[in-house]
Amino acid sequence: MMRIVASIVGGSPKEGAPGGSATIRNPANLDEVVAEVRLGDAATFVDACGRAKAAQPGWARVPAPVRGRAVQQLGRLVEANAEALAQLLTREIGKPIREARGEVQEVVDTCNFFLGEGRRLYGQTVPSEMADKQLFTFRVPVGTAAIVTAGNFPAAVPSWYIVPALLCGNTVVWKPAEYAATTATAFAELILHAGFAGGAFQMVLADGAQTFAGLQEALDAGLVDKVGFTGSTAVGERIGELCGRHLQSPCLELGGKNPLVVMPDADLDLAVEGALFSGFGTAGQRCTSLGTAIVHRDVHDGFLERFTKAVVDSPIGDPTQDVLYGPMISERFCDRFEGWLELIRDHHVVGGSTGTGRITPANPRAGFVGDPSMGLYCHPTVVDGVRPDDDLYRTETFGPIVGVASFDTFDEALDLANGHGYGLSSSIYTRDPLHVFRFREGISAGMVSVNNSTSGAEAHLPFGGNGRSGNGSRQSGMWVLDQFTRWQAMNWDYSGRLQKAQMDTADVTADPGFRLDGA
Ligand code: UN1
Repeated sequence: MMRIVASIVGGSPKEGAPGGSATIRNPANLDEVVAEVRLGDAATFVDACGRAKAAQPGWARVPAPVRGRAVQQLGRLVEANAEALAQLLTREIGKPIREARGEVQEVVDTCNFFLGEGRRLYGQTVPSEMADKQLFTFRVPVGTAAIVTAGNFPAAVPSWYIVPALLCGNTVVWKPAEYAATTATAFAELILHAGFAGGAFQMVLADGAQTFAGLQEALDAGLVDKVGFTGSTAVGERIGELCGRHLQSPCLELGGKNPLVVMPDADLDLAVEGALFSGFGTAGQRCTSLGTAIVHRDVHDGFLERFTKAVVDSPIGDPTQDVLYGPMISERFCDRFEGWLELIRDHHVVGGSTGTGRITPANPRAGFVGDPSMGLYCHPTVVDGVRPDDDLYRTETFGPIVGVASFDTFDEALDLANGHGYGLSSSIYTRDPLHVFRFREGISAGMVSVNNSTSGAEAHLPFGGNGRSGNGSRQSGMWVLDQFTRWQAMNWDYSGRLQKAQMDTADVTADPGFRLDGA
């Protein structure tokens, strides 16, 4: 079934396509059109921000437990529509159906966490240094949030922003990825049916340039108070600059070159299993995907042999089947991935499949599930011999490619795990607690897995990175509340006098010269 999707501003789909139109095809079957997208432009974005800004004070006045009830209803609606949403997600971006169901579950988990937060959103009562005076803290919504997200997680990652932002009393303008606009529209419809106040949620479909222009205008006009962005480091830097000029600090969730360290005492089969899912789940198109496996020289050959065999033997193809991964998200992801294969150099040893690049009848993959000529499929690629001066070591390669490097000492492993400058996720396989905690202490990444995949974070732990992966902002769990609220401090003096802090405080006296006998 082909749909037409458009921005949803003021509660209804926008007529016309001032930003042009685009066709979304099923990346596993390019003959199938999933949707025609009517794109908005900068003015659409500004209009949506204006409406969200106007709705914000009213939404903030709705008691937080009632806002939590809307979050609860959203969770129940997503659950009731889970299979339809997962199927759509698989058709639109080619994510294997099992992973797509997991992604929808992540939205439900996020709602389940935040529905109760409406009954907490705790502030504190704090003692004053003076009698008859009391201090308090309150969480105050930031205002209107503009949320710009990528399409590799077209429902879960947006929910990490949208759900807590609304719960905290903000209103939201969401700009999803144009290439995942159908899933976004379905999710937006569920949000609009969950009971959030009219105007609290707007969705704009637009390309990157129009969005940036619209964001700039909306910030200048004072219509946006917080920006959330998940996407590339290059775009994140531009958004950070723009927000900085308005004295705003955005929530930035950017790229990764996530290391997986294999120590000599590791359970190698477990490490291989973890590397396989980290590297090739979602066809390597997660910001948490494995970049480089960093393997101790003593176990390097054993690891590489088992890992390569596991990659060679894995089913790849039709995402409606039980496969390791399906097609690339869209043409643009596929083309970019082929470009990154050019980072492979003569000193590298390539394995993992019966070819590299696009899987086609002329460049087949042994054991492929389905017909590769129908979609945008790429061979899995394992590149051994990665060194710190390689471009491949430093470049985020969003796709099914994993580098393998080797090391002799723990410090070398840590240098390799940090040296690229990204700091999102990381993993170590070892049985030694000393190495676990030294790794945790030394790694720059915001997330550390022990004997587990670099990807697949649970929905209620802080998610985010440092360095080239982000500005230190964190999503998820109670930590994201600091993105969508600001602390307000209140003091109340009921003494009936002006008691001046630091000056009118009582003191206690000690006898500093006192000594015990014999001291
Ligand atoms: C992303 O790729 O932007 O931890 C997010 C994970 C997923 C989220 C990935 N839960 O791999």
